[in-house]
Amino acid sequence: MTPFIMIIFGATGDLAQNKLIPALFSLYKENLLPEEFFIIGFSRRDFQNEEFRNYFEKEREDPKWKGFSKHLSYQSGSFEDEKPYIELSENLKKIDTEMGACITRFFYLATPPDHYRTILDKLVETKLSEGCGYPSKDFGKGNWTRMIIEKPFGKDLETARNLDKRLAQIFEEEQIFRVDHYLGKETVQNMLAFRFANGIFEPVWNRNYIDHVQITWAEKEGIGRRGKFFEGVGMLRDVAQNHIMQLLATVAMEQPKSFTKEDLREARAKVIKSIRCAEKGAVVKGQYEGYKKEQDVPNNSETETFVGMKLFVDTERFKGVPFYIRAGKKMPEDLVEISVVFIQTCHILFKEFGCPEIGNVITFRIQPNEGIKLRFIAKKPGAKLGLESVDMKFNYNETFGTRGLEAYQRILLDIFSGDQMLFNRSDELESSWKLITNILNNWEKEKEKIEVYKEGSWGPKESQELIEKDGKKWLESRKGGE
Ligand code: BG6
Repeated sequence: MTPFIMIIFGATGDLAQNKLIPALFSLYKENLLPEEFFIIGFSRRDFQNEEFRNYFEKEREDPKWKGFSKHLSYQSGSFEDEKPYIELSENLKKIDTEMGACITRFFYLATPPDHYRTILDKLVETKLSEGCGYPSKDFGKGNWTRMIIEKPFGKDLETARNLDKRLAQIFEEEQIFRVDHYLGKETVQNMLAFRFANGIFEPVWNRNYIDHVQITWAEKEGIGRRGKFFEGVGMLRDVAQNHIMQLLATVAMEQPKSFTKEDLREARAKVIKSIRCAEKGAVVKGQYEGYKKEQDVPNNSETETFVGMKLFVDTERFKGVPFYIRAGKKMPEDLVEISVVFIQTCHILFKEFGCPEIGNVITFRIQPNEGIKLRFIAKKPGAKLGLESVDMKFNYNETFGTRGLEAYQRILLDIFSGDQMLFNRSDELESSWKLITNILNNWEKEKEKIEVYKEGSWGPKESQELIEKDGKKWLESRKGGE
């Protein structure tokens, strides 16, 4: 692997602390990083290099941290001032000189989204966006510089379009990596293998056999110390616009023409374009009871920590099949799960013997206890005919003895190798922002009421009603992925 320099903007934030640095450290421990690499944290906090290295309390206990942390350094400064960028530029030149070459640069935007424009503008003004400034035959127009942008990519359709326009003025498309780390999850990629590598499921994967689809995205935790970030974002933008859309796309997409970046992104983009809100009132906005008392949250906050939705996917395959979504903080458990519920046929022959409420369901457990479960109906042992739903299970860890690469490890490795398959193309984002912006505008127009829900519950009762009025029910998960 070739040496690299990664500059992380927002390096003292939650994302860097909980995901990025731990993922880089794991790659280091697994010998998946090159011998020469430089990680430069860029943030407002007035840190020296050593303070930055000590900032990662959990990792610092590891005996290998010392070796890794030698690769970390820190650039303090405000994102609006030119000075720290100039210092950074000097520093990068120094590294290039010491290394005797132009080292690949990755600029990683891990700040709240309102800083993206400022940082991009400053990178242009200080010419940092141009890479090391001398052309290389191998990489064309300075393409060894890569720009990595975290979600949420903008605040709505307009800001997302503007951000994209700006990026296109500065970089080639091959240099731009729009992150949605859910695409890097093993379990999400496995859904593609499940659907397209197994001939037995595809014939029933359509509206003739599928009754509806449920997606649950639940976190036990509240917003913790991320009040400042979350207040300006909310659940719809933080999770629904990106992670949920990608989960839905993976269940509903058509088979890509080939397993390549172009065709996979094309299949995702097509299906996201076909998603629409089922009807007026098919979106529930909730907030957990204690949210207004959280750090950095104003006591009149209207920010949603829960969103419930009924969506349709207008393709030949899924026309008329409802997709029920619920995504929330302070839920009863940590759980991300997709259940494909098939049309019940038990009553055709067995009505008088008592059919279970639910017949066939395929559940993809994204996390925790990653796996897949197939529910079907079996005859209960005994002289009399009685029927019951039973489960057949596959668990990643039990089968493979590992849960695989953590999503950010996968994402980082792909950034290093320049593979954009698991990153958003701008039209995927444009379509999902269209849907989400419509919902946001409607909320504003209709002065949508926010429903308060008890912490540790599955959200406001309106979310239950959304599905129950269609004569269906949320499949309550059983603890621990049983
Ligand atoms: C992030 C959201 O994108 O995903 C967070 O901003 C959320 O609010 C996190 O907690 C969850 O990621 P994971 O990989 O732990 O499910």
